[in-house]
Amino acid sequence: MTTRRLVLSRGAALVGAASTGLLLPQIVRAQSNKIRVGFMLPYTGTYAALGVAIENGVRMAISEKGGKLGGREIEWFKVDDESEPSKGVENANRLVQRDKVDVLIGTVHSGVQMGIQRVARESGVLSIIPNAGAHAATRALCAPNVFRTSFTNSQPTLALGKPMFDKGIRKAVWITHKYAAGDEAFEGFRESFTKAGGTVVKELGLPFPQVEFQALLTEIASLRPDAVACFFAGGAAAKFMKDYAAAGLKDKIPLWGSGFLTEGVLDAAGPAAEGVMTALHYSDSLDTPRNKQFRTAYATNFKLQPDVYAVQGYDAGQLLAQGLAAVKGDIGSKEALYKALESATIDSPRGKWTMSKAHNPVQDIYLRRAEKGENKVVGVAAKALSDSGAGCKLAA
Ligand code: PHB
Repeated sequence: MTTRRLVLSRGAALVGAASTGLLLPQIVRAQSNKIRVGFMLPYTGTYAALGVAIENGVRMAISEKGGKLGGREIEWFKVDDESEPSKGVENANRLVQRDKVDVLIGTVHSGVQMGIQRVARESGVLSIIPNAGAHAATRALCAPNVFRTSFTNSQPTLALGKPMFDKGIRKAVWITHKYAAGDEAFEGFRESFTKAGGTVVKELGLPFPQVEFQALLTEIASLRPDAVACFFAGGAAAKFMKDYAAAGLKDKIPLWGSGFLTEGVLDAAGPAAEGVMTALHYSDSLDTPRNKQFRTAYATNFKLQPDVYAVQGYDAGQLLAQGLAAVKGDIGSKEALYKALESATIDSPRGKWTMSKAHNPVQDIYLRRAEKGENKVVGVAAKALSDSGAGCKLAA
């Protein structure tokens, strides 16, 4: 692809040079030699802030490496996917067919990810998933050209059940947005909580992106479980915690969750988030030089506090930079590129991690407690946790 574009634009440049008498070919060639990087992320809706954090993270990692990939300049492209699954394929094709990106970085929402996955598998374009945890992307529908720098939906919740049981919780209600992310997060929660000895007394849900929680909160109050566990993220997570507190449940029935619940929304949720317990592969308060350096640089660059989404984007940028350095910018040498990406160790603010055979991070999961606007580490809930990768046929 790169070669063909190069030839075409050289031709076009020669015509231009002939008619103007200027020495244009080298300039045009240099431009067409850029690596084309496309962001497909939500920039509107419940997950808008997540998309922004991911893009910021990617850009920061690459600019720390000199602003180039494998020595080549970058041309950026952007599509707002609105977290709308029905437009997933069309939006991915805007980047792949129209903009001819060399690499597609996206997205946040698991349903939209399935559209990207289809386009990635059909076109062979390099695809880096900086958030969406859809199991299929690194299980049955895994692909040599698809790599994830985030998690699978059940990874954080596989580490949630035992700490809850250990705190004396025996009966829990699960509540979520009803779509792949919440349903798969539930799989992890049910497995870990029942294995520890607990019982899930009720599974509650509402369609994404609805945030009318009242009827469900009334039901929770009447069920009177020992605790509630949940999956919500972004704007919906802040509203859920506020409504939970306003309904008078906060001090009666402890709230636990997949850690996205308290990512990027602690200011918005205010006192409603205080004491909420979660499991996640990152925590603001990780006391390592790497995390501190990252947090300071991010805050300085963007006048924002980073969260897990910024970290996942940052690691997508790091992964891309490492892979393209290994092939000296030749994104067409796929075998060597994929090998480099598969064998990368990412020195992440979350701690170092590696790729599983199915191309998903093998990583520690932290137990955290929201305290005064910060996710404080309480302990390590799971060490080097790998997703099963069930059904993925990629070679070792
Ligand atoms: C997802 O749809 O996979 C998803 C969205 C937001 C999160 C986590 C997972 O915070």
